Amino acid sequence: MTTPKLAIVGAGSMADYHCKGFSRAGAEVVAIADMDTSRARAFGEGRGIKHFYKDLSEMIAAHPDLDAVSVITPNKFHKPLVIEALEKGKHVYCEKPPALNAAEMRAMLEASKKSGKILMFDFNNRARPEAQAIFRYIRDGRVGKINSAQASWIRRAGIPGFGGWFTTRALSGGGPVIDLPHMLDLALWFMGYPEPEYLLGSAYYDFIDNKAFKGPWGIPDSANSVTDVEAACHGMVTFKTGQSLMVRSSWAEMNEREVVSVTFQGTKMGGKVERFFGIDGLDETSIDSCKLFAEEYGNQVDLAIKTKKDESMGRINNAANFVDAIQGIAPPMNSPEQALILMRIIDALYESAASKKPVSMRETGS
Ligand SMILES: NC(=O)c1ccc[n+]([C@@H]2O[C@H](COP(=O)([O-])OP(=O)(O)OC[C@H]3O[C@@H](n4cnc5c(N)ncnc54)[C@H](O)[C@@H]3O)[C@@H](O)[C@H]2O)c1
Repeated sequence: MTTPKLAIVGAGSMADYHCKGFSRAGAEVVAIADMDTSRARAFGEGRGIKHFYKDLSEMIAAHPDLDAVSVITPNKFHKPLVIEALEKGKHVYCEKPPALNAAEMRAMLEASKKSGKILMFDFNNRARPEAQAIFRYIRDGRVGKINSAQASWIRRAGIPGFGGWFTTRALSGGGPVIDLPHMLDLALWFMGYPEPEYLLGSAYYDFIDNKAFKGPWGIPDSANSVTDVEAACHGMVTFKTGQSLMVRSSWAEMNEREVVSVTFQGTKMGGKVERFFGIDGLDETSIDSCKLFAEEYGNQVDLAIKTKKDESMGRINNAANFVDAIQGIAPPMNSPEQALILMRIIDALYESAASKKPVSMRETGS
């Protein structure tokens, strides 16, 4: 088998995880493009990447034999870059969120179908050891049907910089709802990615201009620029299957601490996957856990599953799976069809929050 050749567009914060996952699976990262070529060069040097470009078109023209491209740019550029790479016959690995909205995601799905190439996203939380451990119980029928679930990524003070692309809706698509879709995706995956039926959501803008709510990471504040996204959003979705899901997302809200979890209640067992971020939100001090809750012989039984620690939160595993998928060694861990359902729910959360009305996802086909 020949070594798959990959290239990266956007020397973003996730590029190192992508590279580690790609090389662990036996692929070679041959080139990197960034509109800021000094950033591409700084990233490539020391990692053995010898070719640097300003944009994707230039990079593909110079390396027509590339098998795949990974996209790590601000959200607004996901759709055009993904579609260009697919149309040029490359498999694509794209950072989350998939796109700015469902209409963009539909176009990306069509492009992947037309090209026959794999389009996979960095829903890295599915590839975390805890999520994988719980999923085996779900897949093997031991949890039963998941009736209800709660997906939370709530931060007390986690605005990722003021006035940069994260807080500019035209570039990001929105605030925490679209920036932190991981637990929503994880809950939907556990539930079997059912077809949504109705949704009710509310968004809040308190604290979005308050520097006391800035996170310990993200990008530098930029002066005189836009901050027009929500600080928090809470909603509920029901599905045609009778299942229901509550969603909580925030960058800035009076919570006790950052909570990153999916909890669920099945007909045979309940369970949860959780990450507690440690000091100042640093990954290496975080604690991951997963548990199942059952009733056995008249007793309430809790099953605490011990898994390996993964500081990368599944990012390396997920990138490695992409390389396996393009070689036909393993199925891709997520699909564009699932990404479309996710983006329809995100659209409907914003629509319901703006209209202050429930959204029928059936009627609008949103
Ligand atoms: N999976 C995760 O846990 C995770 C974590 C952080 C960020 N992300 C996602 O990664 C993506 C990038 O975020 P970031 O924080 O690294 O952003 P960033 O702003 O730090 O980096 C983005 C890079 O892309 C470059 N760029 C922008 N448009 C480009 C284009 N059209 N062509 C070439 N280069 C271009 C910029 O110059 C910059 O170097 C976002 O979609 C974000 O949501 C995912």
